[in-house]
Amino acid sequence: MQPEIRSPAFFIGQGASAGDLISFGSGQPDLPPPPSAFAVLEHFRQFKYGSVQGELALREAIAKEYPSATPEEVVVTNGASEAIDLVLRAIAVPGARVALPRPYYYSYPHNVELAGMTPVYYELEKGKINFDSFEGAVQGCRAIMINSPSNPTGTVQDIDTLKKIEDLCNNLGIYILSDEVYKDLIYVRENYPMKGKRVVTINSFSKTYAMCGMRLGYFHTLDRALVEKVVEMKSHTSMNTSLISQAMGLAAMGERSTYVAAHVPIWQKRRDIIYQGLRDLGLDLWKPEGAFYVLPKIKNSTRAMHDLYYHHNIITYDGVWFGAPDRLRFSYALDIPKIEEGLGRLKKFLENEYRTYA
Ligand SMILES: Cc1ncc(COP(=O)(O)O)c(C=O)c1O
Repeated sequence: MQPEIRSPAFFIGQGASAGDLISFGSGQPDLPPPPSAFAVLEHFRQFKYGSVQGELALREAIAKEYPSATPEEVVVTNGASEAIDLVLRAIAVPGARVALPRPYYYSYPHNVELAGMTPVYYELEKGKINFDSFEGAVQGCRAIMINSPSNPTGTVQDIDTLKKIEDLCNNLGIYILSDEVYKDLIYVRENYPMKGKRVVTINSFSKTYAMCGMRLGYFHTLDRALVEKVVEMKSHTSMNTSLISQAMGLAAMGERSTYVAAHVPIWQKRRDIIYQGLRDLGLDLWKPEGAFYVLPKIKNSTRAMHDLYYHHNIITYDGVWFGAPDRLRFSYALDIPKIEEGLGRLKKFLENEYRTYA
């Protein structure tokens, strides 16, 4: 009896190149990080505790990416994941509501619940925010999450909509947690960093610099009291973020523009191939504008994910995990020959098992 696959934890850490496996699963870039990040490894000798808020040199470099930001407004974390967790716990009011996009990144509802708050949802329409329904959903919330470009939809929100959201939340005194971890993987325009007194911009080195396993992320906010509270909490939980990761991240930032400029066309080409390939197989999906995911409709996505994995050696993620039942998420963070091989196997699945689905 094959084990049931209940959550992404089943797949996380399985390599895209393990044997005959084709992984459209985990969202981690397969491309190498910037060479300057590797160069750090040879000379690194710092084994003592570091600053809980993050090394000053790294916070200074990060602050330069945000208009008139200062290093005091930045906290360096164990990936964006820790930033989301700590910020939610720091602003938590027991039972308060936090509005999440649906489809959502699978951790968000868990993060909100772990902070003792209640997730509520604003529904995306083909991955886009409808401002009128958004406005209704967020009334009385403690915070909202925005994720543009989005995992799992691959969509980028309109700047006009983001500005309206800034005004609305500012007037209502609602925190905006803007998860911009895909800010540099965007095909349609420059990223628009959200602004405002209660905006918390969350970011990561995982995607921009292909450094997922180094667990390096950060957040920026003008709210100094929030920074202080998070640093206090972090001093009792994970303490400083790994110093070698911070040194590698700082080195990588020096290559940001050339690295990103070289990589976006690679992502875009893969996007085009998988988008067209899935359409040619007759699947219904929209064209992603950023990040590296597609989210086609598939009947009975849970069964399809199992059949694809156990019969065709392909990893996909069940849409149910993202609040999108009857869709499957494919990450295209793998090279073109593997994408093509995976599409070929998917075709066999569609012509065989899938035909028997009710
Ligand atoms: C939208 C989103 N936010 C946060 C994360 C977590 O990123 P990190 O590796 O920086 O913890 C991910 C990872 O896939 C993500 O897709």
